[in-house]
Amino acid sequence: MRPVSASNKLHTREFVFTIEDYENIRRRIYDFAGIALASSKQDMVYGRLAKRLRERRLSTFREYLELIDRAPGDWDIFVNALTTNLTSFFREAHHFELLARRLRQWLPSSSRPFRIWCCAASTGEEPYSLAMTACEAFASLSPPVEIIASDINTQVLIDAREGVYGSERMNGVSEGRLHKFFQAVDGEHSSRWKVIPQLHQLVRFCRINLLDSSWPLHGRFDAIFCRNVMIYFDRETQRAILQRFLGVLEEGGELYAGHSESFLHASDLFTNVGKTVYRPTPTRRKK
Ligand SMILES: C[S@@+](CC[C@H](N)C(=O)[O-])C[C@H]1O[C@@H](n2cnc3c(N)ncnc32)[C@H](O)[C@@H]1O
Repeated sequence: MRPVSASNKLHTREFVFTIEDYENIRRRIYDFAGIALASSKQDMVYGRLAKRLRERRLSTFREYLELIDRAPGDWDIFVNALTTNLTSFFREAHHFELLARRLRQWLPSSSRPFRIWCCAASTGEEPYSLAMTACEAFASLSPPVEIIASDINTQVLIDAREGVYGSERMNGVSEGRLHKFFQAVDGEHSSRWKVIPQLHQLVRFCRINLLDSSWPLHGRFDAIFCRNVMIYFDRETQRAILQRFLGVLEEGGELYAGHSESFLHASDLFTNVGKTVYRPTPTRRKK
């Protein structure tokens, strides 16, 4: 069997990594999560998984694949290892400004809360930024807003629920917000910050794989934040997910996408109404 040839580092590798191993990994993560790994990602995949072979005292990728197919815990760690979780507070700030405007227009007398689904929430910076935006828009620590934050990665959800961030992660948070919405974990000169309980309470975390045939969601949403995850999916998968978003968006609801994501190829489903903001395309009347 031919070893993966893309890398000159091949001969220094601890484990043999064949093209067949890579294709087997690629197929599994695509079928389960929709993540379409390019052939140029072999080194990255090897790097992320070799650690697991070592930890499980395995000597080949074939043994590793057999293990993840029968052990759900190892399967989750495999999926976690192959997702990319880069995020930050108030990333793509214009979306939070737009949302704040919409929230201020939300009638205080409205009989229901404004509902947001943040569907690739990673380690929590995005949903907590949404919660801070809502608190500011309503000038209250208990605004009429409900935020569901989900992700496929079980580890990032644990981190997100904990809501503790090192100083290096706080770049997008102004001094004012830091003091209003976070508590220092280790006293006055702390390098770690925890979100305050009121912010935490506004966000409900759960695991949702966007590819699953049903999503454990109740009711519809006024906004869906689906940012920087569709880039990992091919167009067919994107389209299937966009189609299903239509079924969980309120009339007049908005979809917020990542800076490098465009759904122009699905303009029959969603229409661009601003910088990476979309609304369901009004269905044309049939003659
Ligand atoms: C790059 S992060 C984006 C985080 C955040 N939305 C942002 O823009 O800063 C992508 C996230 O999508 C998640 N993800 C990947 N595939 C997924 C799937 N099939 N279902 C749900 N989440 C998925 C990953 O676990 C990761 O946390």
